[in-house]
Amino acid sequence: MSLVIHQYAFGDAGTFTAEQENVGEPGPGEVRLRQRAIGVNYIDLAFRSGAVGGGGFPVTIGLEAAGDVEAVGPGVTAFKVGDRVTYTSMPGANAEKRLIQASSLFRLPDGITYEQGAAMTAKGLTAGALITKAYPVGEGDVILVHAAAGGVGSLLIRWATAAGAAVIGTVGSTAKIPAAEANGADHVFALDSGRDVVAEIQRITGGRGVDAVFDGVGRDTVGLSLRAVRENGTVVLFGASSGRPAVDEELVSRRGITVSRPSLDALVPDHDERRSLADDLFELVAGGDLGETVITTYPLTDIARAHRDLESRRTTGSLVLTI
Ligand SMILES: NC(=O)c1ccc[n+]([C@@H]2O[C@H](COP(=O)([O-])OP(=O)(O)OC[C@H]3O[C@@H](n4cnc5c(N)ncnc54)[C@H](OP(=O)(O)O)[C@@H]3O)[C@@H](O)[C@H]2O)c1
Repeated sequence: MSLVIHQYAFGDAGTFTAEQENVGEPGPGEVRLRQRAIGVNYIDLAFRSGAVGGGGFPVTIGLEAAGDVEAVGPGVTAFKVGDRVTYTSMPGANAEKRLIQASSLFRLPDGITYEQGAAMTAKGLTAGALITKAYPVGEGDVILVHAAAGGVGSLLIRWATAAGAAVIGTVGSTAKIPAAEANGADHVFALDSGRDVVAEIQRITGGRGVDAVFDGVGRDTVGLSLRAVRENGTVVLFGASSGRPAVDEELVSRRGITVSRPSLDALVPDHDERRSLADDLFELVAGGDLGETVITTYPLTDIARAHRDLESRRTTGSLVLTI
């Protein structure tokens, strides 16, 4: 039997129910995983409420986890019992055990813990895809990252600084400034401070503006993003934690801004390419180039508390459920 988090209705964090279920044997191309750590992502809140996803009840949400292969189905040759693996973008993660297509798995290197795997497979691949493909960040770039203490934001800053960029970060409140600074941001502004952040960014960049903005917050920050970027710069709108961004098209065209709205799935649809990005990510982590990942763990049975903390903006870094 396996612990699983079910929902019988979409709604708030009170809709989670911990139950036991029999997972069964893997079918052709599948493996059964004994999961050790499950990543919590901001998009999980939308799956929980029914804003995205759907499906018949009971439904199990969650997209990402790390664990051990416990059984392999017919035709699976790439993995064997006992292999340590991680995955993302596969709904149904919030469980102790699950069946999953072997073709969706990445090998978890020995030096990387299950918690690190679950904390950064989705967020790290997203960060990596954003700074290598949505806007290739390089030496000498100055970039702006919102939610600079959050999951994706933290990894974006660490990866971008490793690539030689200077980073300006914003956070929602003053209390999060130290966390964003610890990620390596050169300047951090709290959006509740009343300061004119665009003017500060103009001052820092000698009146030019930043080369690119990575904006996962959306509605509350898109106006700032379009004013802080340089003429002909790039604004990457990759999330909507505060709501969907309304883009001022007149401003975009007058300033020659490139606006992109990428997703990990669209940027890196091919599994082999994703595996190579995962290899890059875990190599950077193992080599210490991304610093210490900030991870807050909760027991899987405490999933409601993890969701409430994330949606009330109390968290920094990545949240992981352990079993
Ligand atoms: N495009 C893709 O493929 C892709 C993949 C992964 C994630 N994402 C997106 O990336 C964003 C970050 O994801 P994450 O999992 O790492 O989450 P996160 O950044 O750790 O958490 C969300 C953060 O958004 C900020 N925020 C601003 N306004 C908010 C509001 N009204 N309510 C709640 N939070 C608000 C908060 O930081 P402050 O308090 O500092 O403002 C909060 O901590 C999300 O929008 C997510 O959907 C996109």
